[in-house]
Amino acid sequence: MGGGALLPPALRLLSAFFTLLCLEEIIRFDNSMVHSFPLPHQLDSTPKKENGVLIPQIPPNSSPQPLIPLLAPSPLAPFSNNSMPKISGKCMLNFSAVESLMSTAAVDCWASFAPFLANVICCPQLQATLVILIGQSSKDSGMLALDSMHANYCLSDVQQILQSQGANANLQHICSILPSNFSEASCPVSDVNGFESVVDSSKLLAACQKVDPVNECCSLICQNAILDAASELASRDGGLPSMKIAHLSTEHASRIDDCRSIVLRWLSSRLDPSSAKQMLRRISNCEVNAVCPLVFPDAKSVARECKNRIKNHTACCNAMDNYIVHLQKQSFITNLQALDCAASFGLQLQKMNISTNIYNFCHVTLKDFSVQVGSQESGCLLPSLPSDATFDPVSGISFTCDLNDNIAAPWPNASQVTSSSCNKTVKVPALPAATSAQPGKDTIRMMLTLLVDLLLIFALVT
Ligand SMILES: *[C@@H]1O[C@H](CO)[C@@H](O)[C@H](O)[C@H]1NC(C)=O
Ligand SMILES: *[C@@H]1O[C@H](CO)[C@@H](O)[C@H](O)[C@H]1NC(C)=O
Ligand SMILES: *[C@@H]1O[C@H](CO)[C@@H](O)[C@H](O)[C@H]1NC(C)=O
Ligand SMILES: *[C@@H]1O[C@H](CO)[C@@H](O)[C@H](O)[C@H]1NC(C)=O
Ligand SMILES: *[C@@H]1O[C@H](CO)[C@@H](O)[C@H](O)[C@H]1NC(C)=O
Ligand SMILES: *[C@@H]1O[C@H](CO)[C@@H](O)[C@H](O)[C@H]1NC(C)=O
Ligand SMILES: *[C@@H]1O[C@H](CO)[C@@H](O)[C@H](O)[C@H]1NC(C)=O
Repeated sequence: MGGGALLPPALRLLSAFFTLLCLEEIIRFDNSMVHSFPLPHQLDSTPKKENGVLIPQIPPNSSPQPLIPLLAPSPLAPFSNNSMPKISGKCMLNFSAVESLMSTAAVDCWASFAPFLANVICCPQLQATLVILIGQSSKDSGMLALDSMHANYCLSDVQQILQSQGANANLQHICSILPSNFSEASCPVSDVNGFESVVDSSKLLAACQKVDPVNECCSLICQNAILDAASELASRDGGLPSMKIAHLSTEHASRIDDCRSIVLRWLSSRLDPSSAKQMLRRISNCEVNAVCPLVFPDAKSVARECKNRIKNHTACCNAMDNYIVHLQKQSFITNLQALDCAASFGLQLQKMNISTNIYNFCHVTLKDFSVQVGSQESGCLLPSLPSDATFDPVSGISFTCDLNDNIAAPWPNASQVTSSSCNKTVKVPALPAATSAQPGKDTIRMMLTLLVDLLLIFALVT
């Protein structure tokens, strides 16, 4: 089975150094989902030394906290040493307007963790930051795009600033940032006045100034308004006289896509940076949650042991376990993504003549699809409305997991695959409350503290 060989050594190392130190006290226990977790340590208000690593203190009076794996131990000093970024001096964007968004992005995209958080947290935050940077700057410049020369300078400056605050040096690649993320690309409108003469801007703003985090993904109120505005901009000039010719339609689609960025920038100029961020992240959450980001290697080893009538239970589930271990080295995913992943992997297995529900048969749960942080019990599924990572010099980088009990991975029914993600949530009653609840209210179950020897990872990976 070549699965292991496909993984870059750094990922294997990282995975090996995730160390589960403790599952801490249940802070809030509002349903039965957590019952089977071992609770080896009771929470103590004083920091404890355990295996030589400091377990961070949790303030006794803090409001209920979601699961927060802390990905780096104290001391982080050598890695929080902000260096002076090498700024080109030729990027005219107003960085001071997005200072705090940049710091958040630097933490979300922290060093060697960036690839694991890229899909759900890091790149969406970076993308939002770039959009807001241009949007806020347009209040002075009147421009919603940069020319290509300035785009290159700004691209480099953004990378420099983030890197100086601890972000991964390769974000350009990890999040596919291009000069077109700053320019108008093929959109024919790139200035505020032009925009407002084409688009019904008050209607657009009304649809998007308050995005409902849960319902937007199905109601598409803001997203449809953005698409309408982008379509209006895209058909604005004489570049594409008519849409009769079929081959022009891909060109037109990409033009609408480029205009979509312009619309987002304009919206970000009409909202304050933190409201703009909220809007953009809520929209991107809809996109993130709709797709399983995992890459499924060939599952023939599983098919060999599990197809048709399963002869040997142990051999089948061993093959399944070995396979899933490779999935677990890819990316942190949300609970909704885990549903997508379970469905697409299940369908792949069914095509290979595996008719038994081997998720049931081998006790595969939803969180088995996410990055594991220790034992089988400690998979971290991010909430469907993920929070940003946070940095604290004592405890390091942490982010919220929605770690509920072992929710069985649903085995897909090939004759029902057309159901949309809007209906999916309804069909899986056991799905974590975070999926449809306000963040910070019902999502909160317990505190999981995970400490990783970041120093060691740096020493071995870099
Ligand atoms: C921070 O970086 C500077 C320059 O690279 C270095 O001189 C200094 O010792 C570093 N400080 C820490 C705490 O690592
Ligand atoms: C940049 O943004 C800040 C904060 O929004 C604002 O106070 C300042 O006037 C802007 N600077 C310029 C040069 O436009
Ligand atoms: C940059 O633009 C590309 C293509 O339009 C897009 O796929 C990517 O997500 C954008 N990246 C960021 C960080 O905005
Ligand atoms: C089932 O498979 C396991 C592991 O491959 C093997 O050790 C065991 O002998 C097999 N049992 C039977 C009855 O074939
Ligand atoms: C699945 O089973 C059918 C009928 O038994 C067979 O024709 C087909 O080749 C099998 N497909 C795979 C991928 O094994
Ligand atoms: C799959 O869906 C079809 C159509 O809804 C239904 O008739 C069938 O019983 C389902 N099969 C399973 C195994 O749930
Ligand atoms: C959701 O499910 C309901 C009933 O099962 C169905 O009528 C509706 O069309 C579905 N909606 C989508 C978007 O698939």
